Amino acid sequence: MILSGKAKIAGVIGWPVGHSKSPRLHGFWLEKYKIDGTYIPLPVEPDHFAKAVHGMQAMGFKGANVTVPHKETALKIADEVSARAKKIGAANTLVFKEDGTIFADNTDGYGFYQNLICGAPDWQADAGPAVVLGAGGAARAVLIALAEAGVSEIRLTNRTKERADKLAEELDAPITVVDWHEREQALCGANLLTNTTTLGMSGQALLEIDLFDLPKTALVNDIVYAPLITNLLEKAHVHGCSVVDGLGMLLHQARPGFEAWFGVDPVVDEDLRQYVLEN
Ligand code: ATR
Repeated sequence: MILSGKAKIAGVIGWPVGHSKSPRLHGFWLEKYKIDGTYIPLPVEPDHFAKAVHGMQAMGFKGANVTVPHKETALKIADEVSARAKKIGAANTLVFKEDGTIFADNTDGYGFYQNLICGAPDWQADAGPAVVLGAGGAARAVLIALAEAGVSEIRLTNRTKERADKLAEELDAPITVVDWHEREQALCGANLLTNTTTLGMSGQALLEIDLFDLPKTALVNDIVYAPLITNLLEKAHVHGCSVVDGLGMLLHQARPGFEAWFGVDPVVDEDLRQYVLEN
C-alpha cells in the first residue's frame, strides 16, 4: 500500500517487540480493506514509554497496542480507562482521541470470549461450570470474561495455589479454587475447560491431565497457539469434545483497536488465520 499524506498510523509498543504478530495481522487487514494507513512495530524501553506515547500523539498517530512490559504503565498514563481494563489492571490498546486525551482499553477477555463463541457457535456459556487452568495475567482476563458471559461457577486451579486464591479474592466472579493435584476431579460435569498456563507451548512442558471425568459435551480451549493443536486439544479431540484453538483469541483481541484507529470492524476468517500462521 502506498501511503498518502493523510495516512492513518498506529503500531505496537513493546520491549522487545520483534516477536509480535500484530504488524502482520493489522497489515493483512489494511491491505484487505484498502485503507490508507500503516501499523508498525515500536521497540520502546520501559523508561521511555510515556515519552514515546506522547511523541506518537504529537505526530498524529491514531493509537497503539501495548505489550510486555508496558501493559500496566499504559493504564497510568491514560486519561480515560475502560471498565474491563480497570478490572484487569492492564491495558493492551490505546486510542489517541481528537481532543488530545488517551483512552486505554483491554481487549484480551473480549478476544478470548469472541474466539469461543465464533469457534463453537452452539456452546452456551451458562450451561454449566467452567474449569480454568492457570492464574497468571491471561487467566485474569479469561475469568472476568467468563463471569461477564454468565458462567455461574468457575473452578480455578493453579500450580501455585496462593495465586489462584488471590485472584478469587480480588475478582467479582463466582470462583472456587481447586488444588492443582485435584484438577482432574474438577472436570466432573464441566461445560468448558480452558488452559491459560504456558504448559503445552512450544519449548515448554506438556500439560498433564486425564480427561476421563470431562463430559464429552464440554468445549475445550487452549489460549496457547504455538503449536496450534496443543497436547490438551489433541487429547480433548480424541476424548470426543469440541475444541477451539488459541489463535482466534489473538485475532479477535485486535479488532477493537483496528476499528477505533482505521474505522472498520475487521473480519476474522480462515484466510487471516492461514496468513498469520504462515508469516
Ligand atoms: P501469563 O501472564 O501469560 O498468564 P504468567 O503470569 O507467567 O503468564 O503465568 C503462567 C501460568 O502458567 C501460571 O499459572 C503458572 O503457574 P504458577 O502460578 O504456579 O507459576 C503456569 N505454569 C507455568 N509453568 C508451569 C508448570 N510447569 N506447571 C504448572 N503450571 C505452570
